[in-house]
Amino acid sequence: MREKIEYKGARELERIRAAGIIVAETLELMRAHAQPGVTTRQLDALAEEYIRSRGGQPSFKHYRNYPATLCVAVNDVVVHGIPNDEPLRDGDIVAIDVGVKLDGWHGDATITVPVGEIDAESQRLMDVCKEALDIGIATAQSGAKLSDISYAIEQHVNAAGFAVVRDLFGHGIGRRLHEPPSLPHYGPPGEGPTLRPGLVITIEPMIVAGSPRVNVLSDGWTIITADGKRSAQFEHTVAITSNGPRVLTSL
Ligand code: MF3
Ligand code: CO
Repeated sequence: MREKIEYKGARELERIRAAGIIVAETLELMRAHAQPGVTTRQLDALAEEYIRSRGGQPSFKHYRNYPATLCVAVNDVVVHGIPNDEPLRDGDIVAIDVGVKLDGWHGDATITVPVGEIDAESQRLMDVCKEALDIGIATAQSGAKLSDISYAIEQHVNAAGFAVVRDLFGHGIGRRLHEPPSLPHYGPPGEGPTLRPGLVITIEPMIVAGSPRVNVLSDGWTIITADGKRSAQFEHTVAITSNGPRVLTSL
């Protein structure tokens, strides 16, 4: 049997929103600091310090023994890269994923940012991924089916000549970082639960310039493209409301 979806009330949405504002602020701080020569470990320390200064906790740290505040994904890393001492280099693209827990409620978002000057194809990969997220959000209307979001995202990505990674999903979020339902970013429309006000989910497409096949490194976390080509990701935490989708992790 499938686990039950927890629908949130107005007060609960505001709690997630409060966590989401700290997520958004942290990501803007990361965007500003993701410069050539900076290490992802330095970014991680900065992020953790900022989150704690705002009264929050990093959602990912210690979650299933994950060791850091951020997940960082440089170039061919798709997701869940552990911050390390390798300096970022001019021309890299890096996805920065952060979760914040505030007063018991989680928000979760990701941006991919350029480091210095990047090539046109990497810029297009990032642009198409951001557009796919925005299209997914616009599809998250009360009365639609969950997989209508999946379908809209994949259509846009494929039309641009890129591919959606199939191994990692969006998810419900609230008191727990990962709640039902699971949201693939691909597949046919019209399936899964009907979206209703109070559902809060992450939409977090990962897209690649080459094959969507991935491998997991021996650290048990880092997921990379099998062909070494680049990947981008954007994510928001989104609430379904009677007035349409509400993004809880923007500024
Ligand atoms: N945003 C990612 C997710 O929801 C990050 C999880 S990293 C983990 O899957 F450490 F928390 F697992
Ligand atoms: Co997530």
